[in-house]
Amino acid sequence: MGWRFFVAKNPINNIPIERGIRMEQRLKEILEIAESELGGITDMKALEEMRVRFTGKKGMLTEVLRGMGQLSPEERPAMGKLVNEVRSEIEGLMTSVREKLEKEALSARLVKEKLDVTIPGKRPALGRKHPLTQAIEEMEEIFIGLGYDIAEGPEIETVYNNFDALNTEENHPSRDEQDTFYITDNTLLRTQTSPVQIRVMKSSEPPIKIICPGRVYRADTVDATHSPVFHQIEGLVIDKGVTMGDLIGTLKLFAKNLFGEETDIRLRPHHFPFTEPSAEVDVSCWVCGGKGCRVCGGEGWIEILGAGMVHPNVMKACGIDPEIYSGFAFGMGVERAAMGRHNISDLRLLFENDLRFLRQF
Ligand code: DAH
Repeated sequence: MGWRFFVAKNPINNIPIERGIRMEQRLKEILEIAESELGGITDMKALEEMRVRFTGKKGMLTEVLRGMGQLSPEERPAMGKLVNEVRSEIEGLMTSVREKLEKEALSARLVKEKLDVTIPGKRPALGRKHPLTQAIEEMEEIFIGLGYDIAEGPEIETVYNNFDALNTEENHPSRDEQDTFYITDNTLLRTQTSPVQIRVMKSSEPPIKIICPGRVYRADTVDATHSPVFHQIEGLVIDKGVTMGDLIGTLKLFAKNLFGEETDIRLRPHHFPFTEPSAEVDVSCWVCGGKGCRVCGGEGWIEILGAGMVHPNVMKACGIDPEIYSGFAFGMGVERAAMGRHNISDLRLLFENDLRFLRQF
């Protein structure tokens, strides 16, 4: 930069001009201050403050430019040029300081954010199926292996399918509003999976071999063994010549598959409107094997399902001739079976979905 050699001269007599010299000195001073200040700048904020003070709109250089009004028109271009030279000199110096600061900030960041790729990663927790889903799928597998199809029906059912077609008397206690959630006079939340039997029998021809897993509803208060919503699996077989022996053989096979080869079953006479004869079915206790323990309440047996031979009235209601066909049906609670198998004493655990509980299955 040539300012050191620049001295504004009067073009007439070639004598340096006083005002010009003062401005020139001021510019020299500004450059010197800038140089010494820049040496102490350690962050961007200070650098920006400096920029405003020196080259900003109201900065020192602008101040010098304002004084140009006092110069003669001849002096001005040279002085203007000098101001610009000083400005670009200061800007150049600031740019190199800025670049130095940016470089330092980047390397500090790189050190701070350095990735150690050799640190072992966090393994994402794998989800799993809910114990009830597991129980349902396990039971489905057993029956699929025996050649059964899976059928489903709606949770909102007609009163007819849920009760009437299932041969349930007009004044049967299960129809009571205190036990059943009615939606209208003719519709309800199904209280059992048995109405799926009706739907399948009405819509298909024997032979029929199905199981129907699903959700059912009853107006029960929640406690350790009751829930207003729970799950059942229904089974239905209709063909020519189906006997009680087939029912017992099927249930035995099922129990052995689910609870272990040594498991036995027993039938106790019972009453269901839709089967005749009807039975409640117990399996030998999977903990003590029949000797009697806490799980089976000293009985040696645990009730798991209801079953029987399909009532002729039920077949007739579905257009199947009970003189030609016969069949058996069974139904069981999934929660009960799952609780038994996993030794769960409170039904609510299955619905609260506390991960600490669910992770155990
Ligand atoms: N639906 C009966 C209930 O909810 C269970 C049942 C018993 C289903 C005997 C059947 C059966 O198909 O034959 O308690």
